Amino acid sequence: MLLKGSNDFISGEKIGSTLFISRAAVCKNISALKKEGYNIESATNKGYLLIDDKDIVNKFELESRLKTEFIGKNCLFYSELTSTNDQAKKIVNENTNIENGTVVITEKQTNGKGRQGRNWVSPEKSGVYFSIILKPNITPMETPQITLITGIAVANAINKITKLKSGIKWPNDVIINGKKVCGILTEMTAEVDKVKYVIVGIGINVNNDKFENIIKDKATSLKIESGINLKRADVIAAVIEEFEVLYKIYADKKDFSLFIDRYKKLCLNMNKQVKAVFKDRQITGTVCDIGQNGQLIIKTSNDTVSIISGEVSLTLKDGKYI
Ligand code: BTN
Repeated sequence: MLLKGSNDFISGEKIGSTLFISRAAVCKNISALKKEGYNIESATNKGYLLIDDKDIVNKFELESRLKTEFIGKNCLFYSELTSTNDQAKKIVNENTNIENGTVVITEKQTNGKGRQGRNWVSPEKSGVYFSIILKPNITPMETPQITLITGIAVANAINKITKLKSGIKWPNDVIINGKKVCGILTEMTAEVDKVKYVIVGIGINVNNDKFENIIKDKATSLKIESGINLKRADVIAAVIEEFEVLYKIYADKKDFSLFIDRYKKLCLNMNKQVKAVFKDRQITGTVCDIGQNGQLIIKTSNDTVSIISGEVSLTLKDGKYI
């Protein structure tokens, strides 16, 4: 955007001649940008000046930040959706040739979905909600590995842009100071032993100031933890870039064991007491390892149990479980 690179007013005439559009079209475009939230000052005989860079998420803000090879090259932006995962599913069903790495993003979800049938609270303009469409050459059994890799990418991106230290509660809740800041929901469609596509949905609480009652003790945001209002487009771009680096290695080598050490370093459950609920069973024990497929390995008083999905608690410093 022309106005972004300038500290001074730019005349309507100059904008028009650079973009090959009429003065009337310049006025129309400036009004549209103001409606989107850009703070643009207009002065007679001087032209237009972009006053400050607001926290705006749109196709332009994302594409101008992303330096990736294929993830996010095709960004589909919506002001409102029920769920980016559902929209991504609809898109792949309608067009099976959709580019690998297409990203579906929205400002607000009216029916954001969480794991285990829960919902993901998705207010406008405070969090980020997006889904990445992938076509990996893997079996359905291997899909959870992509979820774990996504957790590593989000934790790395958060550490990079905020300097906050985040960790992962197995399998994929990103946690800061004992509270959840990001959730990941991976869904897939598969033939008998081959995945057709995987949709990785990521929700991050970015500039939320507070949370509603039921989740207020469990949820946090990057703003609450860092005291800084972040640009959501920066957060999305950082996650997508981190994810692409890891996913390229994964897709190329088809070897999850390359990520186990990185995952274990971030995994907050490692060597901790946990309560795990899976297949209607509840066990208590100590996490002793992460398996070759990303399973959580728990040593109980009389057994060693390996779980690939389910709900696992995390013991905090004050002895509470989350
Ligand atoms: C969880 O329960 O922790 C997973 C939450 C996943 C939320 C994200 S927001 C973007 C994408 N669209 C959805 O409907 N859910 C995921």
